[in-house]
Amino acid sequence: MAPSVSELTAQVQEVNLKSSTKGQSEPLYPLYYPHFDLNEKFPPTQLFDHVDPGTRADRAKPHILTPETKVRNLSTYLGTEVSGVQISQLSKEGLDELALYAAERKVLLFRNQDFKDIGPEKQIEIARHFGPIQRHPTSGNVKGYPEFHVVYRDTEHDRFRDHFGNSRSNLIDWHSDISYEKQTPGTTFFFILEQPEIGGDTLFASQVEAYNRLSPEFKKRLEGLRALHSAVRQADESAKKGGPVRREPVETEHPLVRQHPVTGEKALYVNQGFTRRIVGFKNEESEYLLKFLYDHIAKNADIHIRATYEPGTVVVWDNRVTVHSATGDFSNVQRRHAVRLTPQAEVPIPA
Ligand SMILES: [Fe+2]
Repeated sequence: MAPSVSELTAQVQEVNLKSSTKGQSEPLYPLYYPHFDLNEKFPPTQLFDHVDPGTRADRAKPHILTPETKVRNLSTYLGTEVSGVQISQLSKEGLDELALYAAERKVLLFRNQDFKDIGPEKQIEIARHFGPIQRHPTSGNVKGYPEFHVVYRDTEHDRFRDHFGNSRSNLIDWHSDISYEKQTPGTTFFFILEQPEIGGDTLFASQVEAYNRLSPEFKKRLEGLRALHSAVRQADESAKKGGPVRREPVETEHPLVRQHPVTGEKALYVNQGFTRRIVGFKNEESEYLLKFLYDHIAKNADIHIRATYEPGTVVVWDNRVTVHSATGDFSNVQRRHAVRLTPQAEVPIPA
C-alpha cells in the first residue's frame, strides 16, 4: 500500500532535519535550508494587473549609475557586472531603474551585496516591488516563507543526479523559469549563500538576439504562433520522489514571440524546460520547429554569457527575454546554496 500523506510528511521532515550531511559542515545559512512540507497547499493563482516598474524609470538611472558605480559589460547582447551600489539601499525610484536596467541588459551581476544578510522579510519586500512573488509548487522553499525557491546541492542532495539520473550525457537544461504560469516572471533575483570553489556558474542566453538573427520571412512565420507551456512534468517528478505538489499543475499557451513591455524588444519565448508543443501544429511539425529553435538558441554561443558567483553576488535578470541553465561542473562534496525570488509580471504580450 502506498504510504499515507502523514507518513510521507514524516519522511520528508526527516530529510529536512538531516541537514548535517556526511563529512560536510553545517550550512552557513540554515534558515534557508530547503523545506518540503507535503501538507502545504496553495490555491490556483489569480490574475492580477501588472504595470512594470521599468515603465516608470528615469532612462538615465541616476539612482543606480552614480559616480561610485562601476559597470562592465560581459558581452554585446547581454550581461553587465555592477559594483558600488547596494540593492538593499535603493529607493523605490532606484528599484524602478533596476527593472529598466535588467530589461535592457537582460542580466545584471551585482557584486559585494549585503542582500543575503538583510533577512527574509526585507528580501521579500524588495522583490515584491517587481510583482507578486511566485510560491513554487514543488521546489524546496523556506519554512514560513514560501516565496523563496531554494537551490541546494551537497553530498546527500544532488539535483543533477535526481533530475537527470545517469541517462544524459549533457546536463545543460535551457529554460525560462516557471513559464507555465499565466503571468510569467519578469525581474528575477538570485543570491548566493554558499558556493563551490570553482564551477556552478549559470549560463544565460538572449532570446532577443536569438530572435533578431532569424530571417524576416521566418520571423513572419513565427509571429502569431502560440506554444503550450506545462507544469505537469515538474509536478509528476516531484510526486514520484515523494515531494510536494502544492498546487494543481497548470498548462498555459503563450505567444512564441513576445514583446517586452518596457523596451519594446521582441524575443523568442520557448524553452526546453517547459514548452511542450506548438499549438495547431501536428506532432512532427511541432517537434521539428521546436528542435530547430532550441538548437538555434543553444548553438549561438556568442549570445550566451556565464554568470559567475563570488560571496555577496546577486544576479538580477529578466526572465521574459532570456533563457538560462545551471551547470553541474562541480563536485557535490562542496555545498552550493542559493535562493531565488521570482516576481510574476504581465501576461506575455504577443509580438
Ligand atoms: Fe531557473
